[in-house]
This record gives sequence, structure tokens and C-alpha cells, in this order.
Amino acid sequence: MRISSRARRIEPFYVMEVAKAASQYAREFAHSQRPMIFLNIGEPDFTAPPLVQEAAARAIRDGATQYTQATGLDSLRERISQWYAQRFRVDVPARRIVVTAGASAALQLACLALIDAGDEILMPDPSYPCNRHFVSAAEGRAVLVPTSAQERFQLSAAKVRQAWGERTRGVLLASPSNPTGTSIHPDELRLIHEFVRSKDGITLLDEIYLGLSYDETYGHTGLAIDEHVISINSFSKYFNMTGWRLGWMVVPEALVPVIERLAQNLFICPSTVAQHAALACFEPESIAEYERRRSEFQARRDFFIPALDAMGLTVPVKPDGAFYAWADCTQLCRTLGVAGSWELAFELMKTAHVAVTPGRDFGSADTGNFIRFSTASAMEQLQEAAARLMALAA
Ligand SMILES: Cc1ncc(COP(=O)(O)O)c(C=O)c1O
Repeated sequence: MRISSRARRIEPFYVMEVAKAASQYAREFAHSQRPMIFLNIGEPDFTAPPLVQEAAARAIRDGATQYTQATGLDSLRERISQWYAQRFRVDVPARRIVVTAGASAALQLACLALIDAGDEILMPDPSYPCNRHFVSAAEGRAVLVPTSAQERFQLSAAKVRQAWGERTRGVLLASPSNPTGTSIHPDELRLIHEFVRSKDGITLLDEIYLGLSYDETYGHTGLAIDEHVISINSFSKYFNMTGWRLGWMVVPEALVPVIERLAQNLFICPSTVAQHAALACFEPESIAEYERRRSEFQARRDFFIPALDAMGLTVPVKPDGAFYAWADCTQLCRTLGVAGSWELAFELMKTAHVAVTPGRDFGSADTGNFIRFSTASAMEQLQEAAARLMALAA
């Protein structure tokens, strides 16, 4: 069978490949003293809180399961709009909000709506791998711009200006970022966006981890800058609903009918049950629970990052959000006699029974020297993982 060149261009999502290997090892170690600890997948260990579960069950019982509008339930768009007002003090009218099947669908819609064949999109190296694949699936080209710890692993306006070429159409940024958990300073983001606008380009801003922000300097939405920033968001992370497949995007008003047309054709609508359930996310009781969980994520970060630093797995920039640790593993590779982070990930699975993600997925500049830990697991798991790694590193 002849496979399209488009499909052939998409690399595997190595996180998932490593996860497959981790599950195999996990079966082997299941009855040992040390079952596998999974710190490889970026997924909260919490599930949707009770009110959300009940709302889903009620929707199913009441038969509220037909297709919705392609842009989502109006009531949910309203609720999201209110959330922006309450939490971020920004006015985002519901008519600019499009509910989608996760941030993934939102990113695909944005790329299909705005990118023509051969258009180039700048993004930082390292960054979330699927983002560059969404660009290639739309026949565009993701241009990875290497970043350093001094830059918080984010692009700056100066770098964007320098990298901007004839075919550049825009930037795709994530703040806080996966894999680093670091955000772009709001002033820098404004400068980037102003430059992009001066080139008639697009600023795509993946804010899927914004709800999980631990630092007042960074916890602001880019939507405060102007209505041309396109923000992508999700119920997956802060709202702990990964498998429910629900997210949203905020787009300039003129783009809504374009996105709607694409969404009608490609998805018909996001999951109706998930949308009814998501309405309950914004009830005070649910928000209180989410905030409790956010503090728990912060406590995990505050335990795990110093533990890694102490064993020479240095995390060069303290994450201000999300639940990741992007650790320099050169020293541990040397100690264990392995060639780089890919080999190290397998070594850690086999010897410490700790699954991590090698840097390879996230770019090509310096990713062979980094591994990503997800700190979205319970504190006891993180403590046990830290003890096992410490024993290896000693
Ligand atoms: C930066 C980033 N963007 C988008 C996604 C996709 O999220 P969703 O589950 O909403 O499709 C992820 C998932 O890990 C992510 O880390």
C-alpha cells in the first residue's frame, strides 16, 4: 500500500513508544519487590471530581447525547468565558470560544485554517512533539529554534526576529511548556506578538498548562495582549480529564466561522457527554478541589526537583507551571556508562524500574542530554523513585 508522503513525514510519538516498552517491563516486574514507577507520561493521576462524574452520568441517563453545534454547547462557551473573567481578569466573549476534542483537535483546526503548503512556523527546541507534527500534517514546516536555560527554554522576540524568513507564517509557543514547565515572561510574549503582527503573522499560544501555574509572574493568559493571539486550552491537565477528549480554543472573531466550517466537517462536534460534564468543572466545589490538587502538584515539584538536583540530575530552570522536570542527565550517563538520554531511559527502566521520557521527542538541539520526568504521580511514588535513582547515581 502506498502511504502518503504527509503521513511518512510524521515521526512516531516516542513518548508512546517508550511507554509501550515500559508497560512490557512493568509486567515483568509486577511481582518483584520493586514494581515499575511511571514518571514518563504527562497525565494527572487524579480523575474528574465527583460533580463532574455525576454530570456525565446524568447526561447519559437523560439521553443528552446528540450532536451539539460544531463550536460546542453555548452554555459551556459561556462558562469558559466567565472563567477567564474570574480567574484571569480578561474579557473573552463566548462567541470567540470554540470547544474542541482536546487541545489536539484545536491545534489541528488552527493549523489547517492558517497554514498553507510550505509555510514555516517557528517553535522552540525543546517543545511538545505533536505541535510540530500538526504543522507538518497541514503541509507546513515546523522550524525548531534552539533555546537555552538562560532563555527559560522559550523563544524571545529577538530570536523570533532573527529566525523570521521569507516563508515564515508565525510562531507556535507553549506557556507553560512541555517538557520544561517554564513559561514566557508576559512582557516578552507581548514583544514577540507585536513583532509577529508587524509581519502579518500568527501567534499560536498553547496554554494547556496555564491552570497549573505556581508563580504569579507567569500565570497570565496571552489573551490579555490582544484579540489576535490564538490561545489553545484543554480540560486534560488542570481539570484532570485527559481521556474525556475535551478542550477549547480562543480565536479572533473573524476566524470563528472558518474554524466552525472545518470543525463541522472534520469532527462534527466534541463529545457531548464530556461537554455536559465539563459544565460542572466550574462549580465552586469542583474549583476548590482543582485548587487543592494544584497545591499538591506544586508540593510534588518542590520535593522532586531538589531531589534530582541533589543527585546530579540538574534541572537548570525551576518549572513555574505544569508537572514536568527537564533534567540534564550528562552526569548520570557518564556514571552509568551510557551514551545519552535514549539509552539512559531504557537503563533506568531496567535497573531502577523507573520509567522516564528521553529528550529525543522534544527536538534535536541538546535533547540527547536531557530526560523528562512527569511529576504528576503521587508523592510516595516520587519519593520511592528518588530513592532508587539516588542509589544508582551514588
Ligand atoms: C503542550 C501540550 N499541548 C497539547 C497537548 C494535547 O492535549 P489534549 O489532551 O488536550 O489533546 C499536550 C498533551 O500532553 C501538551 O503537553
